[in-house]
Amino acid sequence: MPPQRWLRRSGPLRIEFGADYNPEQWPPAVWADDVRAMREAGVTIVSLAVFSWARLEPRSGEYHFGWLDDVIGLLAADGILLDLATATASPPPWLSTAHPEILPVDRLGHTFSPGGRQHWRPTSPVFRQHALRLVRAMATRYAGHPALAAWHVSNELGCHNVYDYSDDAARAFRRWLRGRYRTLDALNAAWGTAFWSQRYADWDEILPPRLAPTHPNPTQQLDFKRFSSDALKEHLRAERDILREITPGVPVTTNFMVAGDIDIIDYADWVPEVDFLANDHYVRPGPQAQDELSFSANLTGNLAGGRPWFLMEHSTSAVNWQPVNVAKKPGELARDSLTHVAHGADAVCFFQWRQSRAGAEKYHSAMVPHAGTDSVLFRSVAALGARLREMAYVAGVARTPAQAAIVFDWPSWWAAEQDSHPSDRLRYKQEALDWYTAFLDAGVRVDVVPVGAELQRYDVVVAPVLHVVPASLAVRLRTYVADGGHLVTTYFSGIVDEHDHVWLGGYPGALRDLLGIRVQEFAPLLDGERVELDNGTHGTRWTEPVDLVDPAVEVLASYRTGELAGRPAITRRAVGTGSASYVSTPLGAAGIVPVLGEVLKRAGVRSELPGQLRGRVELAVRGDVRFLINRTDEPLEISGIPGAPAVLPARGVTIVGPGR
Ligand code: GLA
Repeated sequence: MPPQRWLRRSGPLRIEFGADYNPEQWPPAVWADDVRAMREAGVTIVSLAVFSWARLEPRSGEYHFGWLDDVIGLLAADGILLDLATATASPPPWLSTAHPEILPVDRLGHTFSPGGRQHWRPTSPVFRQHALRLVRAMATRYAGHPALAAWHVSNELGCHNVYDYSDDAARAFRRWLRGRYRTLDALNAAWGTAFWSQRYADWDEILPPRLAPTHPNPTQQLDFKRFSSDALKEHLRAERDILREITPGVPVTTNFMVAGDIDIIDYADWVPEVDFLANDHYVRPGPQAQDELSFSANLTGNLAGGRPWFLMEHSTSAVNWQPVNVAKKPGELARDSLTHVAHGADAVCFFQWRQSRAGAEKYHSAMVPHAGTDSVLFRSVAALGARLREMAYVAGVARTPAQAAIVFDWPSWWAAEQDSHPSDRLRYKQEALDWYTAFLDAGVRVDVVPVGAELQRYDVVVAPVLHVVPASLAVRLRTYVADGGHLVTTYFSGIVDEHDHVWLGGYPGALRDLLGIRVQEFAPLLDGERVELDNGTHGTRWTEPVDLVDPAVEVLASYRTGELAGRPAITRRAVGTGSASYVSTPLGAAGIVPVLGEVLKRAGVRSELPGQLRGRVELAVRGDVRFLINRTDEPLEISGIPGAPAVLPARGVTIVGPGR
C-alpha cells in the first residue's frame, strides 16, 4: 500500500524547502537570526528536536518544553512548518546510567557505551517504555499546534544500532522465529540444522548469530537480518500508534536511507507503515556518484508508488564521515536537489540548518556554514530556495513511469553477500547500479523498483543478481515473460529459495527453465583476472560455464579468453513475443551498454532524448514536466527539445514543459 497522505498544511501545493534545525546547540539570541536567515533562504519547513531528548527531559519524567515552545513560536510566527521529531533517536545520559541494559551489544559481545548516539537496543522493553513516554508527552504538548505539519519518528532507524546481539535481542529473535516457523521442526528444516550438528531441541537454545568459531548458519544470519529489520519496524509502529492516537490529523513519517551503502532495512516492507515516504541521501564520491544519487531517488520514488516523497536530508556540501570529505563543486548543490525533485520529491531538506561549532559533526556542511550567511554557500542555498519556489507547478505531479525497470531486492542483497560463498567479491548494489548507469548512458529512462512491483507494465525488466527466488517469484517471472515481457537477469540469480536453500538440478536454479540454460559449477575469478568476451566487452570477479539446454537459445556473446573460451557468456531465449536473457559475468557499466542496447532494440524501447544528449543528460519526467539533468561537468548545447534553452549549463538542470 503506497503512502496516503502529505503534509498537514493549507494553501496550494509547493516544493517544501528546509533542514534539520538543532537550536539547542545555540544560545537563544541566535534563534531570531536563524529565523530571519531562513526567510532569506526561502525555508518553508524544518525538522525539529531530532536530538533534543536530554534537553526536553533532563531528568526522568521531568519535562522542559519551554525552550522548544519559544523556538516553535518564532518559527510559526514566520510561517515555517514543523516536521516535529519525537526526539527519541538518542537517549540521554541519565537513562543509560540508570538502565545500562538498554545499551546494544555487538556480535563479539561488546556492549556499546553512551557518548555517541543511537545507543539503544531496538528490542529493549526499558528503552521502549521511556521512549514512548516521551512520544506521548511530545504529542500531547504540541497536538493542536497549527504549524505541526508532520511527525518525524526517531531518526534514521537502525543507522547505528540495527544489529544488536544482546539477551533482549535473543529473546525477541526467538519470539519472532516462533511467529515465522510455529514449530521447531519447521525451523530446523528451514535452517538446515542437520548440518554441523546444529539441530535445536528447545527454542531457548537459539541465539542471534553471535561470534562463532567459523561461519554461523546462513539461514540463521538471513533470518536475523529479517528480524532486525522487523524489530525496528515494531519500534516505528509503537511510536506511530501513539502519535496517531493523540494527533490523528497529523501524518507520520520517518527518514529512510534507501540504497546508499546501507542494506540493513527492507524498505519495501516498511512503506505501508508511514503516511508519506521520507528519505535521506548522501553522495559517495566516485565516477558513479551522480548516478548513485539518481538511483536512490528513483527507487525512493517508486517505493512511494508515484506519490510525492520528502527528501529529509542531504548535504549542501561536504559530509564529515567519509575518509576524505569532498566539498560539492559549483552547480552540484542544485543539481543534486533537483535530481531528487525530478524523481518525485516534493520537499528538499538538508542536514542541517546551521553548521555546528562543537560536536562530531562540526565539519559537516549546512545551509549556514561557519563562514555565516555572507558566503558563497549560503547564496547558493538561497538561490536554490528561490528556484524551488518557482517550481510549485511540479508539486503533487506523479513521476511518470518508464518502459523499463531494474528490480531491487533487499533479501537478495542480504543473501548474495553472505559469507562462505564462491566469492566474497560480489557486490549486489554495484551490479544494479552498473545497469542503471548503462541505462543513463543509453539515454533511456528506467524505473528502479522493489521486487514486488507490478512488472507487467514494463517492456523490459532487468533483475541483476536476483539471488533469492522463492517459487512464487519464479512463477511471476515466467508469467511476465510468457505475457511478452523481456527479462534480463545475471550471474548468481535464481540460486536459493527464501530459506537460502539451493534449488537443485543446476544453476540458475529457479530460473533455469525460463532461461533455457544450465550451469554446473560457478567459476569466480581472482582479483586482477579478467576474461574477454567476443563482443568486445570483458568480465571480472565471476564467470559461469553456461550450457544451452533449450536448443533455441541464442548466444549473444561468448567467452573469448580464459578457461571458458568458446562457451556462451550471454544468452537469450525467445518465449513467444517475450524473452529471457542471461548475463553470466559482471561486465561493468561500459560493458553492459552494448548488451542493454541489443535488449532494448529488440524490445522496441527507444531513447526519448535527441542523439547528441544521450548519455550526457538524464531525462526524468513528472507528467508534462521534463527534467534534463546534465550529468557532465561541461555546458551542453541542446537542440531538438522544444521549449529548452540553447545551452544546458555544466551540472545544470533544465526544466521544460507546459508548467513552465
Ligand atoms: C544522518 C543523520 C543526521 C546527520 C547526517 C550527517 O543522515 O540522520 O543526523 O548525522 O547523517 O551526514
